[in-house]
Formats: sequence, C-alpha cells, structure tokens
Amino acid sequence: KSKLAIAIDGPAAAGKSTVAKIVAKKLQYIYIDTGAMYRAITHKAIINDIDLDNGEELYQLLKKTTIDLQQGAKEQKVFLDSTDVTEDIRNQMVTNKVSVVAQHGLVRKEMVKRQRELSKKRGVVMDGRDIGSHVIPDAEVKIFLIASVKERAERRHKENTKKGYPSDLKQLENEIERRDQLDTEREISPLVKASDAIEIDTTSLSIQEVSEKILEIVKRKG
Ligand code: C5P
Repeated sequence: KSKLAIAIDGPAAAGKSTVAKIVAKKLQYIYIDTGAMYRAITHKAIINDIDLDNGEELYQLLKKTTIDLQQGAKEQKVFLDSTDVTEDIRNQMVTNKVSVVAQHGLVRKEMVKRQRELSKKRGVVMDGRDIGSHVIPDAEVKIFLIASVKERAERRHKENTKKGYPSDLKQLENEIERRDQLDTEREISPLVKASDAIEIDTTSLSIQEVSEKILEIVKRKG
C-alpha cells in the first residue's frame, strides 16, 4: 500500500495532536507536531532574551538551532539542540508568545522548509495551522478540525486538572480566543481551511470517533 501524507489543521486545542497521534500509530506513520517546532524556537528565544517582534533576529537564531521530534515508547519527545524540552514548551509563557513568533515570514519560511523535508517521503501525519494550505498542498488527505471555544477550553481544563496543573477555565477561553485571532489574522500563511480539506466538527465527538472518521477517509484514498 502506498504511503500518504495526512495534513491535520485547525485552531488551538481542537484535539489535533491527540487524534494525529492515534492515526499515525494505527497506520505506522510518523507523527510530526509542527506546533512543537514553533514552540521550541519560542522557548529558546525567551531564554536568550530575544525581542519576539524582531523577525530577522529570530530567523538567525532558528538557523543555528536544531529541533528534533523523536518518537519514544510512550510519547513524542521534543529536543532543542539535544536538550529535552518536551515539558518546557507547554508552559504558559511559551503558549502565550508562540503566535507572536509564528507571525514572522522569515521564521515561517525556515520552518516550512524543514517540514517539507520531513514530509517528502510520505508516511506522515502532520498537524498544524497551514499544513494542508501551504506546507503540503499536495497532501493526499487534508483534515480541518474545529470545535467551539467553550468545548476546547473545557477539554484543556480537564487535561490540566488531570495532570495536576493549576488551571482557570475563563483564562483558558481567553487565551484560546486570542491565539485563534492571531493565527487567523496574520499576513503570512494564516490559519485557513484548504479548499480541498474535509472539515470535522469535533464538539460533540469523542477522540475515538474523530480518529475513526479520519481513518475511514484514509482508507478511501489508499
Ligand atoms: O499546535 P500548537 O497549539 O502547539 O501550536 C502553537 C502555535 O504555533 C500556534 O498557535 C500557531 O501560532 C503556531 N503554529 C503555526 N503554524 C503551524 C503550527 C503552529 O503558526 N503549522
């Protein structure tokens, strides 16, 4: 069976990564979390006290930075210049700043170059904001996941609480809305549903149901 590229896009906290991981595992494909790449460079920029509005400086930093996504036995790990930053890139500071870093054309150009390289051989499930519309425009399967802001905030809240992290539902709603706005309104490859993407509203669906829907779509293609 020929290997495909599966693009999964959608707004913040729509369940993209959870579903992408399940689909990748089932198909024995590689899962690529492009959000983690933007998060990793944001984390490094914060540590190095770089002005996050300065696209050129961020680009220079990125050029000398390696970001590795590695599939461990249990979870995917993110390495920034060989340091495991899997946990760090999920912190509040990074989450609130990543969409500012991701606005810069130069940063995106370099990220897209790396992502295209990773998807060249197919057999990948890549999730993000611009995968179907820009990174892999010829992806064999394009999915666009949506859910209401309220639902997304509630899911994230449950996740945080389960992990024992402090969490405030209203604050989560505000953050998700703000990130959606920045991602949708930015000039360079904004969050947009590709014309040939299949939209799935996950608001009233379980993770399992969404994954099955996607696997059905893949089956029809493959
Ligand atoms: O997917 P995740 O929420 O981890 O992504 C973090 C941020 O990275 C997004 O809010 C967006 O600003 C940026 N991003 C992007 N393009 C992608 C993936 C993520 O701009 N393909």
